[in-house]
Amino acid sequence: MFKFLASSAILLISGISAVKDVPKDFAFGAGTSAFQIEGAWKDDGKGVSIWDTFLHNKNAKENGDIACDSYHKWKEDVANVKALGLEFYRFSIAWTRIMPNGTLNQINKKGIEYYMNLIKGLKDEGIEPMVTIYHWDMPEYIQQLGGFLNPQFVDYFADFARLLFQQFAPYVKYWFTFNEPSMVCVGGYELGSLAPGLQLHGEGVYQCSYVLLKAHARAYRIYEQEFKAKYNGQVGLVINFDWAEPVTKSAQDLEAQRRHIEFALGWWANPIFLGNWPPLMIDRIANRSKMEGFVKSRLPAFTSEEIKDINGTHDFFALNTYSVSQVKYEPEPAIGQPSYNSDKGVDLVLNDSYYYPQGLRTSVNYINKKYQPKAIMITENGKLTSDGLDDQDRINTIRDFINNLVDAKVKDNVNITAYSLWSLMDNFEWGSYEKKFGVIRVDFDSPNRTRTWKKSAKWYQNMIVTRKLDI
Ligand SMILES: *[C@@H]1O[C@H](CO)[C@@H](O)[C@H](O)[C@H]1NC(C)=O
Ligand SMILES: *[C@@H]1O[C@H](CO)[C@@H](O)[C@H](O)[C@H]1NC(C)=O
Ligand SMILES: *[C@@H]1O[C@H](CO)[C@@H](O)[C@H](O)[C@H]1NC(C)=O
Ligand SMILES: *[C@@H]1O[C@H](CO)[C@@H](O)[C@H](O)[C@H]1NC(C)=O
Ligand SMILES: *[C@@H]1O[C@H](CO)[C@@H](O)[C@H](O)[C@H]1NC(C)=O
Ligand SMILES: *[C@@H]1O[C@H](CO)[C@@H](O)[C@H](O)[C@H]1NC(C)=O
Repeated sequence: MFKFLASSAILLISGISAVKDVPKDFAFGAGTSAFQIEGAWKDDGKGVSIWDTFLHNKNAKENGDIACDSYHKWKEDVANVKALGLEFYRFSIAWTRIMPNGTLNQINKKGIEYYMNLIKGLKDEGIEPMVTIYHWDMPEYIQQLGGFLNPQFVDYFADFARLLFQQFAPYVKYWFTFNEPSMVCVGGYELGSLAPGLQLHGEGVYQCSYVLLKAHARAYRIYEQEFKAKYNGQVGLVINFDWAEPVTKSAQDLEAQRRHIEFALGWWANPIFLGNWPPLMIDRIANRSKMEGFVKSRLPAFTSEEIKDINGTHDFFALNTYSVSQVKYEPEPAIGQPSYNSDKGVDLVLNDSYYYPQGLRTSVNYINKKYQPKAIMITENGKLTSDGLDDQDRINTIRDFINNLVDAKVKDNVNITAYSLWSLMDNFEWGSYEKKFGVIRVDFDSPNRTRTWKKSAKWYQNMIVTRKLDI
């Protein structure tokens, strides 16, 4: 009798909550980027980046001059990474710390030393370093030469990437060429909301993507030809993409979903995995360009040589993803000022009460089937919250996302190998310190930039050790 009661109590409990196993070959880590955490914006020979200039020129109330002061506090950060039990740490290298003006004319030994210390500090603790080569902080001088609008950018980037491979390839096995190219090109060259703040609607945005993809491919080929045989590391591009469900299953809403997918994801993934821009983008931009009176499409065409070079430049699919929203059909935007948004021709439905983490499982299945990557790494995922140490809402959201990724891996056989939480700590969210993504709180009012673990840090640490997800 007692036994019977006991087992029904267990049944009752498992009806309320259950525990799911997390596979051992699913690596957990966390990420940051140089401009968002390092500060020390002109210490030890560092040059000026477009983010320094962009914020200083606007006299922005908040900037990256000090940030989390990780340039001086990296040892404490490595200790936190270790204490959290992270298997890897994803960070970026500030181009201007290594080459103050972005070219080989000046190489800053102190900058190389800083990253060498960080990388070796991680390796000594058994933590895998994963390096983003370009996380938005273009050297100001390279920008003055045109930035992503200058085809010569490909050579400057190649010089930078090769130098990093020469220095760090013995220790670093995972390399990301560019972080979130859509944000770089739409934010920087179309809307002007991100550095360098240009508003070259409908044209600069595509020039940027054309040059960026060629620079990615060049860096990939350099590693492949000069370093792969010796070090056997992996290189890829980090694409940001948030899945969207159609509001209804009507043919029109499904078309809207298709446009969203091709303009957000296919824009970058098609050239690298399949060899060219998505046909839908080529057609829509050519058509609208023509009606706007352009003699040729605003979307640059790849030569067959370029296609050959870019096609296949991936060792994995790296995905940054934060939410799942909805999309619905809208009438064809009127012909007027050319823009990326009118070319895309759809808008996401912003609805705060729409919460559909299952969409992430759909998303990775879509990517897996269409692009057939060797592996998928989730290079960013997380939750924006307000300040405070009791961040149960962050725990709930990342638990739901990880749960869906585990299902994709275990039930759908999608080869997801890594999950990198954004972010290790609260940092400079490109204009504001109010937007909190960290599992570790940073006190930006204290000169010490004191770090304190939030509830989510303990939750993440526990999940990694136990390999159990409380769903
Ligand atoms: C680098 O940029 C700084 C500041 O613009 C300038 O003073 C310096 O001459 C530049 N150096 C080179 C090698 O271009
Ligand atoms: C890209 O490479 C794949 C795999 O080698 C190949 O099947 C495809 O035809 C290539 N695409 C183009 C446009 O050449
Ligand atoms: C171009 O766009 C117009 C307006 O939406 C449409 O009527 C036409 O069918 C499109 N043509 C092509 C070739 O897509
Ligand atoms: C927003 O999403 C919720 C949850 O899916 C849904 O019930 C509601 O109808 C949506 N609101 C609008 C305006 O679409
Ligand atoms: C998954 O990806 C990893 C890393 O690229 C690879 O070693 C492994 O063989 C892949 N597994 C499958 C089933 O493809
Ligand atoms: C900063 O840290 C130092 C050394 O640990 C300590 O003495 C000082 O009180 C701290 N200051 C603040 C404002 O927390």
